[in-house]
Amino acid sequence: MLKRTINCGDIRRSDIGKEVILNGWVNRRRDHGGVIFIDLRDRTGVIQITFDSSKAGMSHQLAESIRSEYVLAVKGQVIARSESTVNPNMPTGEVEVECTIVDILNTSKTPVFSVADDEQVDETLKLKYRYLDLRKEKSLNNFKIRHNVTAAIRNHLNKEGFYEVETPILNKSTPEGARDYLVPSRVNVGKFFALPQSPQLFKQLLMVSGFEKYYQVAKCFRDEDLRADRQPEFTQIDLEMSFVEQDDVIALTEGVIKEAFKVIGEDVSLPISRITYDDAMNYYGSDKPDMRFDLKLVDITDICKNVELKVFNQIANSGGMVKGLNVKNGHSLSRKNMDDLIAFSQKHGAKGMAYITVRPESPADIRKYEYTSPITKFFNEDQLRQTMERFDAKPGDVLVFIADSVAVANDVLGRLRLEIADLLKITPKQKYAFVWVTDFPMFEKSEGRLKALHHPFTKPNIKDVSELDEDPLSLYSIGYDIVLNGCELGGGSIRIHQTEMQSKILELLGIGPKEAEEKFGFLLSALEYGAPPHGGLAIGLDRLIMLMTDSASIRDVIAFPKTQSAGCPLSDAPGEVSQEQLKELGVKLKTSSVS
Ligand code: AMO
Ligand code: AMP
Repeated sequence: MLKRTINCGDIRRSDIGKEVILNGWVNRRRDHGGVIFIDLRDRTGVIQITFDSSKAGMSHQLAESIRSEYVLAVKGQVIARSESTVNPNMPTGEVEVECTIVDILNTSKTPVFSVADDEQVDETLKLKYRYLDLRKEKSLNNFKIRHNVTAAIRNHLNKEGFYEVETPILNKSTPEGARDYLVPSRVNVGKFFALPQSPQLFKQLLMVSGFEKYYQVAKCFRDEDLRADRQPEFTQIDLEMSFVEQDDVIALTEGVIKEAFKVIGEDVSLPISRITYDDAMNYYGSDKPDMRFDLKLVDITDICKNVELKVFNQIANSGGMVKGLNVKNGHSLSRKNMDDLIAFSQKHGAKGMAYITVRPESPADIRKYEYTSPITKFFNEDQLRQTMERFDAKPGDVLVFIADSVAVANDVLGRLRLEIADLLKITPKQKYAFVWVTDFPMFEKSEGRLKALHHPFTKPNIKDVSELDEDPLSLYSIGYDIVLNGCELGGGSIRIHQTEMQSKILELLGIGPKEAEEKFGFLLSALEYGAPPHGGLAIGLDRLIMLMTDSASIRDVIAFPKTQSAGCPLSDAPGEVSQEQLKELGVKLKTSSVS
């Protein structure tokens, strides 16, 4: 075989006159009669090859039979392109290779979609022929970045003294809150392994073992409803450290993020700002606020206690909230836009959405503003002026309001905030807006029971275990999330390292001693053998790369992802299994569709 002497994408003017051998795929072929042009592609880029019938002889004849995605070895000379044919949009656009010998290493069926062009392709078809989709420049680039970022993170953690340790895939269930993927055991019929939702318990055990600093590029499995930023099988940069406090884990993680972003030429300025969970909910209506733009939520519950608008005053006087957003210069939104926003609010659980437009031609004097609104008539002059002041309203602004329970008002306004920013195409203050969300409540109430907001191994921010007896719902945890552009990139916490507190927390969560022993007795037991104070965090690697590469979906940065319905169109997984296999495993199907 003619073996390459240089990559297609690396050839430059300085190579003119050199004899080269290239290996790659046919990106495009154009036949101009006497001369055939082929763009040859390898993972570094594309170079134009010319087959001139007057010079290339047999090769020109061969080139006539060549089609897209054929695999070639080409020998030839690098020459300058004539001035009129220079392509300034290609890194190799000043040169071409005049072919003397071509060897067709393999042919290709006509690809089901073009690798060279960026056409719209059905998602299932794309995934069925994922190996062709991955040939595209954008895909290759995503995986190059993924590789370089993972390597940079590994390097950094190695330098910081971390050990990379692999934890088991065949496990007992880890309680991260999603459904488990289960694997029946053949040797222990009737028993099941669970694939890890995260290495949480094992990394804590490694701290008990005295490893002090652990990390892993860890595969995690969660059987949950899929979204654009979720896959059933995904990768975490998982880490844990001993003898640390929250600030130590945060500082270490910031170093990891800085190194990762250097790969794409971005300098993340440190320290990353922090916001408490309560403030995030109050001002942004979300525990993962998008900080690329302002547009904060404003509370006018107090003003609304006496307004004549019934929905507002009833809610304001019965423990609910009236909150809103000031859409600066929102008067440009059409009536249809506003109706859509109302429908959007209702879809997300609000009973309605009211709004006041301050007419753009209003005088600068706040007392003389004129409005377009069905609700200003229910406000007296004083209430209206206070409202305008609270929102810092100016002529041309639109104020939108939601009156509801605290949870619904915050949630819907949090979503409206993003929807409006999108609608008005608000320019982001920066491309990458990071924020730490800290001081999460320890528990939330769900279906009448306490639930851990992070996970049950997160340490509450208390001095003494006895504080757990008072009002658990008022307690905060030492948990923290790192958020990027409104996406939860990672999360972690300082852990409970003492058995007494761990048992008590499990009890509060309704996990009795028997169930606790069954599920994580091994962790409770390990904590009794000199567990050091410890904490850590996990970054979602796929989400990180998705954001770094501006990808619309997490699927774009996973080599062989699953579809919305958790299947793989390429391999057709999950598949059926034979009766013998099921029998061996002691598994009987209710609806027998197996062969
Ligand atoms: P958590 O459950 O918050 O924490 O997960 C950490 C990060 O993993 C990513 N992630 C996902 N990415 C893609 N698809 C999914 N289905 C998915 N689920 C989670 C997110 C998330 O922020 N053991 C703890 C970490 C710790 O406390 O140290 C844990 O797993 O980016
Ligand atoms: P109504 O009294 O139902 O006619 O509503 C008066 C105005 O308040 C209308 O513009 C409604 O869209 C709006 N509205 C109704 N319920 C709410 C609510 N819970 N929050 C905000 N606005 C509401």
